[in-house]
Amino acid sequence: MVIITGTSRGIGKAIAENYLSLGELVIGIGRNHTISHPNYSPIICDLNNPESVDRISFPQLNEEPVIFIHNAGILGRVDYFEKLESVELARVMQVNLFAGAAILQRLLNYIPKTRIFKSIFISSGAGKNPIASWAAYCASKAAVDLFCQTIQLEEQQLGREKFHCLSVAPGVVDTDMQVMIRETSADSFSEVERFREYKHSNQLYSPELVAKKLYKLIHETPLEQVIYSLRDIQL
Ligand SMILES: NC(=O)c1ccc[n+]([C@@H]2O[C@H](COP(=O)([O-])OP(=O)(O)OC[C@H]3O[C@@H](n4cnc5c(N)ncnc54)[C@H](OP(=O)(O)O)[C@@H]3O)[C@@H](O)[C@H]2O)c1
Repeated sequence: MVIITGTSRGIGKAIAENYLSLGELVIGIGRNHTISHPNYSPIICDLNNPESVDRISFPQLNEEPVIFIHNAGILGRVDYFEKLESVELARVMQVNLFAGAAILQRLLNYIPKTRIFKSIFISSGAGKNPIASWAAYCASKAAVDLFCQTIQLEEQQLGREKFHCLSVAPGVVDTDMQVMIRETSADSFSEVERFREYKHSNQLYSPELVAKKLYKLIHETPLEQVIYSLRDIQL
């Protein structure tokens, strides 16, 4: 069973469709659902609303491994931090980190310790290096890396032997998030031309390629660390 947040479009939709094409049961969590498939179960939830996240109820688990992928993410308004409203930071942290953490905590308390359980948070290169006008996003993705490392450590100490927690950066991917980045004005975002150039010179990964690389990492790679980049996964 695969539980994925943010399956309405972009990377999350491609990951869900890849698993569905392989016959897996997929539960999608998000505000909008665009997948219609007999093995797809939608859970409507605004991840920006903690009460809505707490109301999620999971179906009965069978004996199969559980994969949880916290993919939903937002960039927030792209501009210098001093110009933003302070709630912007809270909103980005809530969707990118806290919502996924709350779901993971519920799953850790629900899934027996003996079960194969892999939890993947989609991180970003922006969590490793600062990008001006992306302060909230960079902070949230850096936090994702250390959160996942800490949970891996904790669950090892608690004896959950078949558990892996991964923080996975997908590379630069051709989705609505990149459209939004390219549409920002240079006054608000000094590096906008670099991102426009990625698109013009065809350097963006497709979401489908990312989904296949992620599958290879999760299911066909010895998992010896927590932090990964899909740039290092060759198909
Ligand atoms: N694209 C890139 O180059 C890139 C690079 C590095 C990392 N990432 C990461 O990859 C992940 C997917 O990004 P993407 O490029 O596929 O972005 P995207 O095309 O903008 O899709 C984002 C997904 O998150 C969902 N989402 C956003 N806010 C939500 C909320 N409040 N409640 C529920 N769902 C919400 C969206 O659903 P709605 O339909 O509800 O809006 C959508 O399904 C993100 O974590 C992003 O940070 C992307």
